[in-house]
Amino acid sequence: MISLLTFLLVCLQCDKDIAANIIRVPRNYTFQLSAGFNGSLGGNFVDTTNVDPDIAAILASAAESPFISYDAEFECILGPSPTLQLLAGPVDRDFALEGGIYVEETNSIWFTGIGPGEAGHVVRALNLSNNTIYKPVKDNLILRPNGGTYYRGYVYIASWGNRTVTGGVLAINVHTGEAETVVNNYFGLPFNSPNDVAWAERTDPSSGFRRRAVFFTDNDFGAPNLLNETGPAVLPSTVWRFDPDEESLQPVITRADIPDPNGVAVNRDATKLYVSDTPVSYIRGQGVGGSGPPAIYVYDLTEDLVPINKRLFSFSRSRIPDGIKVDDAGRVWSAEGEGVVVRDSGGKILGVFNDKVLLNSRESEISNFALYGDKLLILAEERIWSVRLGQRVR
Ligand SMILES: *[C@@H]1O[C@H](CO)[C@@H](O)[C@H](O)[C@H]1NC(C)=O
Ligand SMILES: *[C@@H]1O[C@H](CO)[C@@H](O)[C@H](O)[C@H]1NC(C)=O
Ligand SMILES: *[C@@H]1O[C@H](CO)[C@@H](O)[C@H](O)[C@H]1NC(C)=O
Ligand SMILES: *[C@@H]1O[C@H](CO)[C@@H](O)[C@H](O)[C@H]1NC(C)=O
Ligand SMILES: *[C@@H]1O[C@H](CO)[C@@H](O)[C@H](O)[C@H]1NC(C)=O
Ligand SMILES: *[C@@H]1O[C@H](CO)[C@@H](O)[C@H](O)[C@H]1NC(C)=O
Repeated sequence: MISLLTFLLVCLQCDKDIAANIIRVPRNYTFQLSAGFNGSLGGNFVDTTNVDPDIAAILASAAESPFISYDAEFECILGPSPTLQLLAGPVDRDFALEGGIYVEETNSIWFTGIGPGEAGHVVRALNLSNNTIYKPVKDNLILRPNGGTYYRGYVYIASWGNRTVTGGVLAINVHTGEAETVVNNYFGLPFNSPNDVAWAERTDPSSGFRRRAVFFTDNDFGAPNLLNETGPAVLPSTVWRFDPDEESLQPVITRADIPDPNGVAVNRDATKLYVSDTPVSYIRGQGVGGSGPPAIYVYDLTEDLVPINKRLFSFSRSRIPDGIKVDDAGRVWSAEGEGVVVRDSGGKILGVFNDKVLLNSRESEISNFALYGDKLLILAEERIWSVRLGQRVR
């Protein structure tokens, strides 16, 4: 019903003129360019050069624009006058990297950074009512917090831990800031570096029975031979499912299916699970040639919230896909090397929020973001941006 309504809205809005700061790139360029093109994995699609001056001019202007559209639906998402608003920064690199968790009760977005000392162990929040940053966790300390999500009065955060204390998933009460451990071991074995969290909840309409589970990814990026912030990897990289009602923690996706699970997301009605994979070679600074591809996979969730029917959903054009969010219309938004990329539920690209405009340098990257109401908040390491869109997305 929601998607039908959204579809109608999209159709109604689509014949308007598009805003001057949106560059429309013909979709057919993404698979058919006149001879004489030169693109590289290190750059974005819009950095591709072409001997045809018309194509070259469109790509060059798209490279300078914050909003790159491949589809009229993206122009409708953006609305008639999308504007970028700087909410915080520029400050240090690694300041606003992960998380992007909207908390309605406090009208704030929680996010996490990375780095030595305090920066790597603090969750921050941006109060959207007065654009002030504060620390929402009591006593401040969460060991190497990464991705997270909001669910029923709590923010759930994946914590890497450190060399002596094992990581896991923590739940933080959004009013008191008190943190409690949800899971931190599998039969006495520590996780490696838990990365991201997503809740799924479904109520059977006839029986009223509520089934719920929290999914989280664990990979070995923190291990001594990689980023060296945690102990050596013990468990295989896995997507885990924890059911708090059944009190059962179970592995649901193995590294044979997804070598290095990273971002995880569930759609609104908890029928689909999305997981991004990060080639471990990328974490080593050696490109995307190693282990799995830079891909997002989609699974169906059964009534019991078990992922089945793995399908490849998308590849990122450059670097890797990290944070993923699914909007109310079932579109999939992901943080990738090109910026925040929006695809429809079938995987067709709709548009890109261009990292070349949003980032301070090519060393920085966009790893996560938040969707709230009719806005997109982009964590761009040194800066936090907000974009007012033309429609409600979440
Ligand atoms: C690609 O699409 C553009 C715009 O829709 C059109 O003008 C052009 O002819 C198409 N190119 C080819 C090779 O079909
Ligand atoms: C393509 O661009 C790369 C640099 O990005 C350059 O090294 C290479 O020579 C170019 N190739 C052609 C055929 O122009
Ligand atoms: C956010 O700012 C508003 C307006 O200044 C203030 O009333 C509110 O208490 C702040 N929220 C938090 C969680 O501190
Ligand atoms: C603005 O928000 C911050 C962080 O939530 C809060 O501490 C502060 O009191 C707020 N300022 C005002 C004037 O309400
Ligand atoms: C890990 O964190 C704990 C709790 O803050 C701390 O006591 C310990 O020294 C840390 N270990 C390392 C190796 O930093
Ligand atoms: C990991 O960091 C520790 C502490 O800084 C250091 O002693 C150790 O040599 C490092 N290991 C690797 C493999 O870099």
